[in-house]
Amino acid sequence: MSDKATLEVNGNKHEFPIVVGTENEVAIDVKTLRGVTGGVITIDAGYKNTGSCESAITFLDGEKGILRYRGYSIEELAEKADFLEVAYLLIFGELPTLGQLDKFHSDIKKHSVVDDDVKKILDAFPKSAHPMGVLSSLTSALTAFNPSSVNVDSEEDMYNSVVRILGKFPVLVAWTMRKKQGLPLYYGDSNLGYVENILKMMFKQPNEEQYIQNPILIDALDKLLILHADHEQNCSTSTVRIVGSSHAGLFASLSAGISALWGPLHGGANQAVLEMLEAIKEDGGDTKKYMAKAKDKTDPFRLMGFGHRVYKNFDPRARIIKKAADEVLGDLGVEDPILDIAKGLEQEALKDDYFVKRKLYPNVDFYSGIIYRAMGIPTDMFTVMFALGRLPGWIAQWREMRLRKEPIGRPRQLYIGETQRAFKTIEKR
Ligand code: CMC
Repeated sequence: MSDKATLEVNGNKHEFPIVVGTENEVAIDVKTLRGVTGGVITIDAGYKNTGSCESAITFLDGEKGILRYRGYSIEELAEKADFLEVAYLLIFGELPTLGQLDKFHSDIKKHSVVDDDVKKILDAFPKSAHPMGVLSSLTSALTAFNPSSVNVDSEEDMYNSVVRILGKFPVLVAWTMRKKQGLPLYYGDSNLGYVENILKMMFKQPNEEQYIQNPILIDALDKLLILHADHEQNCSTSTVRIVGSSHAGLFASLSAGISALWGPLHGGANQAVLEMLEAIKEDGGDTKKYMAKAKDKTDPFRLMGFGHRVYKNFDPRARIIKKAADEVLGDLGVEDPILDIAKGLEQEALKDDYFVKRKLYPNVDFYSGIIYRAMGIPTDMFTVMFALGRLPGWIAQWREMRLRKEPIGRPRQLYIGETQRAFKTIEKR
């Protein structure tokens, strides 16, 4: 392949270097475009064809349905690793040794205390507040209680910030849920594994002497968190990187990422899927009616949990989750009619011309909500669970962006508004 691309603008030819990634992905480097063409820019709403960075964290091939973290396949990681190992891998680039993993976990535990004043902030939220809004605010508030900003040139400083947020974030997640349910707030139990501890912090009831762990739930949550841990330059991750590119701190950047994740086209889809399935059930379970609505261009309804910007064949995470949903429901002995509606909808969509032509397949969120529900997690907490899983990915991407000394993110635009016009003074009464 040629190592240059040629672009002709107004009869003048300009050459741009072609850069190739380690998986042979090809990009045209247009850094010099404005300079050599006298101000011409590229335009690509939604960044459908625009690479915002070079990254060594996650590889994704949407056509082939491949997802790898640092070179390891998602299938293998979901089967063999635990969430904390995956977090370490994503952030630091290599799987930890046993010694590194133990130290990582023990450092995280040391930092799992959240200042009591954060409880006062939590108290000020109305009960109706959506957990994602609360989580984003509390994450931002952490900045006030940990004022020293990260010195990105110091590995030690960077490491301390990483373990600090990995320690405190699950506490905020559990508190957000418990507060809404009117339950007392707990700190974790330092004798437990990372995921076990999260479950206890979320579910321990005040009248329970001892919280009995369920290995099925631990496994299911571990898997779900791993599957959500990173997904290269999606909406929330790009947000974290762009906020961080102004040298805003880690916690502030993460808080912005949480807000970006909240929307129903992104992480909020898991809540939207469950609400959609419930609505179909309430309406008599007529999946055909909702398929027709999804295809009707005059109807704003979309089949939530279907379609993906990059997966145009299948979402490998959805395959793993669908199997896990069957297993978890079976193991827990839960019979959920919602699962049958989901399967029916999937079967119809997979053979429907509209969905086939547009390459719309179930994504990770189509089945994750069914597992969360079986675990006893309230619907409006689903996206919070996604955020918990995505945390290491956001941290890894933020760290990479700072270590690579990326410039501030600042896109251009094509102005389509009024040209200059004279100001008209309003006639005053
Ligand atoms: N139901 C019905 N039609 C759809 C759907 C859907 N879920 N998704 C896309 N389409 C249609 C869309 O109307 C368009 O049709 P046409 O070409 O006739 O105008 C075509 O498919 C392409 O859609 P698009 O909106 O241009 O594609 P996009 O890449 O901009 O959007 C998406 C991707 C995920 C936002 C979109 O598929 C969607 O809204 N899906 C439902 C929400 C969802 O499940 N989001 C979770 C994504 S996975 C979790 C994560 O990592 O964020």
